[in-house]
Amino acid sequence: MFSRISGTGSFFPPDVMTNHDFEKFLETSDEWIITRTGIRERRIAKNHSCSDMGYEAGLKALEMAEMKPEDLDGIIFATFTPDTTMPSCACRVQSLLGIPGTFAFDIAAACTGFLYACNVADSMIKSGSAKNILVIGAEKITATVDWSDRSTCILFGDGAGAAVLSASDKPGIRSVSVHADGDHADLLALPCLGTEYLAKRNELDIEAGMIKMSGNEVFKIAVRAMAEVASRAVEMSGLSYDDIDFLIPHQANLRIIDATAKRLNLAQERVIINLDRYGNTSAATIPTALDGAVREGRIKRGMNIASAAFGGGLTWGGMVFTF
Ligand code: UT7
Repeated sequence: MFSRISGTGSFFPPDVMTNHDFEKFLETSDEWIITRTGIRERRIAKNHSCSDMGYEAGLKALEMAEMKPEDLDGIIFATFTPDTTMPSCACRVQSLLGIPGTFAFDIAAACTGFLYACNVADSMIKSGSAKNILVIGAEKITATVDWSDRSTCILFGDGAGAAVLSASDKPGIRSVSVHADGDHADLLALPCLGTEYLAKRNELDIEAGMIKMSGNEVFKIAVRAMAEVASRAVEMSGLSYDDIDFLIPHQANLRIIDATAKRLNLAQERVIINLDRYGNTSAATIPTALDGAVREGRIKRGMNIASAAFGGGLTWGGMVFTF
């Protein structure tokens, strides 16, 4: 028994913020942002919550899988920017889909969240406890950025991606390798959504609780970890590097993506990138990039995909699957 991606979907809110928009209130430039990150524009969710976006992406994934919500056994929602700590975004999506009784829970593994969620869904399907699981990666990060911090606010965007994982007799998910190192927790953090912060909210300045990143240090660790975990996932999958048709990396920085592709010996045209249009959407980068490439006809059934992510926690992971 294997688990296989039977459908994908994505959703981006309509409001676009370009690099030039930042030039109006920050000491930055379109040229700096493109050269240092590869990002040209990102989407801002003005009228959608994180769960709204996840729901929209989920509907599209169900449609591609030719399934109704009732066919699902459960929902796993990866995010670090949930609408509320409780209830989970997964429970909100379950209610919108009208399928009470199925399991529903969130996973907090930041930018690696989608791969962690796929790992859990794959294990549940392989163990026989579920047949169809909706896995969502969605973020509303722009609600958490400090707009005066030019080193972080230019990086992030909002959006959602989804995949339905279904039991199959043909190989789908071939390997998943997920990791974390809590010793570096302070390098990338969002204190203001946690109880530690809220307990002190009267003494603290809310701006201090916004997302903070030591970009340069995270960059150095991310370059190494993404490349290593991507190659580990390929080795665990039983496939060779030559069998990999496409790399779908977490979209944080074009320079990190290039280093990961180099490690897998993949030419630029074999790498799926949506960073230029959507920025870093954390848990949503991999499922949105996958869905975009499937709908453009670049990724076809039977192709082998390697994926890798790195994010706050610190967390990182790799996955190889046959689409
Ligand atoms: O998704 C989770 C994982 N996240 C990542 O993997 C992100 C990893 N980090 C990065 O992508 C990069 O470190 C950044 C894009 C965040 C920053 O790029 P960098 O090349 O590492 O720049 P830096 O932090 O070393 O800063 C270089 C200079 C500094 O100025 P000084 O001190 O040299 O005068 C910054 O103040 O660039 C300055 N700077 C900016 N200048 C114009 C930082 N942000 C900006 C900006 N516009 N937006």
